[in-house]
Amino acid sequence: MPVLTTPAPVAPAPAGPADPLSSSLAAAQRRSRELTAAIRADPRRFRVLTGDRPTGPLHVGHLFGTLANRVTLQDLGVDVRVLIADYQTITDRDSPGTLPADVLGLVADYLAAGLDPQRCTIFAHSQVEPLNQLLIPFLSLVSVAEVARNPTVKEEFGAGGGAAMSALMFSYPVHQAADILFGHANLVPVGQDQLPHLELTRTIARRFNERYCPGRPYFPVPDALLSDAPLVLGTDGGKMSKSRGNAIALGASEDETARLIRGARTDAQRVITYQPGERPEVANLVLLAALCLGQSPEQVAGQIGARGAAALKALLTDALNERLRLLRARRRELTADPGYLHQVLADGNERARQIATQTLAEVRGMMHTAY
Ligand code: TRP
Repeated sequence: MPVLTTPAPVAPAPAGPADPLSSSLAAAQRRSRELTAAIRADPRRFRVLTGDRPTGPLHVGHLFGTLANRVTLQDLGVDVRVLIADYQTITDRDSPGTLPADVLGLVADYLAAGLDPQRCTIFAHSQVEPLNQLLIPFLSLVSVAEVARNPTVKEEFGAGGGAAMSALMFSYPVHQAADILFGHANLVPVGQDQLPHLELTRTIARRFNERYCPGRPYFPVPDALLSDAPLVLGTDGGKMSKSRGNAIALGASEDETARLIRGARTDAQRVITYQPGERPEVANLVLLAALCLGQSPEQVAGQIGARGAAALKALLTDALNERLRLLRARRRELTADPGYLHQVLADGNERARQIATQTLAEVRGMMHTAY
């Protein structure tokens, strides 16, 4: 499985070195390559914090994009903490009615994919009060203008000038800094889109250290670890997402998987090739099959050749159902035992709470607010 290898060059960003975004992306990629080597050499130096918003079941895009990588890090001996960002869902949903099921569903997906609660910590940040309390001092370390420059926040601000955006949404990147720093994480596996968030976390860590403990840095300035996983698209060739109806959930049945793949968009050319630029939909099916089979996309395309899209879809259906068989069996067992899932989460919450309690006490000491 191509995890933790050299990050693939990220597609078309034809901008000169004067473009600050592309040069910072190049720098992040370079840094990620160095980090990858450092993790292999000494996994115990690293403490990883990663997370998801509980917005529904995870799908195969998540599996190949982030989940498999988390399991690899855990298996290498890195201290991995996985955060369920439930407070971040109330920035964009009116009724939290489905949250309990979504949160437990995430725990089931994590464990089924191979995260081991004995070796990693899975928790929901709403349950970790001292983590959330860090938001207050952290908010004092950044300006409104700095937060407003964050691309996610800017997008939400949109044409309405923020009229429809909650103040919680506005503080989202600062909250994320609390998520990362409460446990002194020094490595955050992210996609490119999250780099600006992490930059703000780094700023907050630096400013806290400069202001409250000069010369004796307390918070690490965490690094982004850019994923090298190829982007898996949905069955319509767009971004895979549950809301677009183009996602194959990890927990989907074999029949459902077959149906979704049968309905996947292809093109009019008979011979199957791997040309992501010219034939994105076909290339995506080839890529998925290749990821499942541990082959190169070119090999898979070559095997199918003139047998066409129907043969490709049949191959992919079998390969994906085979790749997910064990995961799905584990997931079924886990969801049949919600008491166990609750217990895993409660244990993780408690572990996170202990860590955050100590951090908050130390922060209060440094800020002279311990009375
Ligand atoms: N914002 C992330 C997302 O939308 C989820 C998240 C919350 C997160 N806190 C985090 C990711 C801390 C990494 C580190 O997917």
